Amino acid sequence: MLIMGSFNYIHYHGLMFPKESHNEKSLEYFEKFNLNDDDLIAITYPKSGTTWMQEILPPLLRGGDLTAVKTIPNWDRVPWMEETRAPLVMDKIPSPRAMVSHMPYQLMPPSFFTSKAKVIYVTRNPKDVLVSSFHFHKMASFLDEPGTFEEFTDKFLAGKVLFGKWTDHVKSWRNPDLGERILYVTYEEMIQDLRGVLKRMLNFLGRQLSTEALDSVVNHCSFKNMKTNNMSNYSLVPEEIMDSKKSSFLRKGISGDWKNHFSPELDDKFTAAIQEELKDSNIKFPWDDE
Ligand code: A3P
Repeated sequence: MLIMGSFNYIHYHGLMFPKESHNEKSLEYFEKFNLNDDDLIAITYPKSGTTWMQEILPPLLRGGDLTAVKTIPNWDRVPWMEETRAPLVMDKIPSPRAMVSHMPYQLMPPSFFTSKAKVIYVTRNPKDVLVSSFHFHKMASFLDEPGTFEEFTDKFLAGKVLFGKWTDHVKSWRNPDLGERILYVTYEEMIQDLRGVLKRMLNFLGRQLSTEALDSVVNHCSFKNMKTNNMSNYSLVPEEIMDSKKSSFLRKGISGDWKNHFSPELDDKFTAAIQEELKDSNIKFPWDDE
């Protein structure tokens, strides 16, 4: 069900999507999407490491070949299934295809549930997701102004942000029906030991890379190198749409920046709200005891 909402957003099954990159046609395309058994989807709640996965997956699937990440913009190299670019580029992607999506589990197209397509789900500490999103809303002209950090936190906790509540998204993708089709990784593990996480991904995909190829992928996918890759740092997007003078898309690339934004009171409120929503699930995260 599609309802046209505020100026910047469309509403789809109760979730808010930016009109800049989604429309009725793209969501229809998504609903009818035909997944192949060898497709790979990186699923993320926004600001959890999507762009990073768009850099990692092509070389992992093609023996370490970095040509695609050096020559094709990230949005066409590993497209979002639900965005307007998808119908234009999906057929041009070599098999096995890698794609990304911000969709919750229950909204995946019917072919997802009958195919064997695999999923890598990237989770990031929601406090850092919130901070990253706050700065993104300031630099992206196609999103509403975030207001103060406290106001934006309230919207985030209420799910009045892109793709709804973080907790709903995370819980939806813990569905036991997914079995061995899904690999869970965290942004924080990738920060700590990218090489180790890439080896887990390769193992999950039943693939191997030589030590040299793996080293070169790890090196290429560092924050520093991605920041200078014009195919990935969003410098191809006009300044009127994304103003990097206000904030870079590849902004800080660290874990724990939330400590520079949260007051102790806000931290207590945020932690309590997230814990309450997750209390009936047995999901454990590396940041739980921070
Ligand atoms: P920050 O705003 O905290 O820097 P997404 O791609 O899902 O929109 O997420 C964007 C976030 O991922 C940004 O976080 C961005 O800097 C971070 N990111 C992207 N590539 C990264 C990398 N190679 N290393 C660390 N962080 C990365």
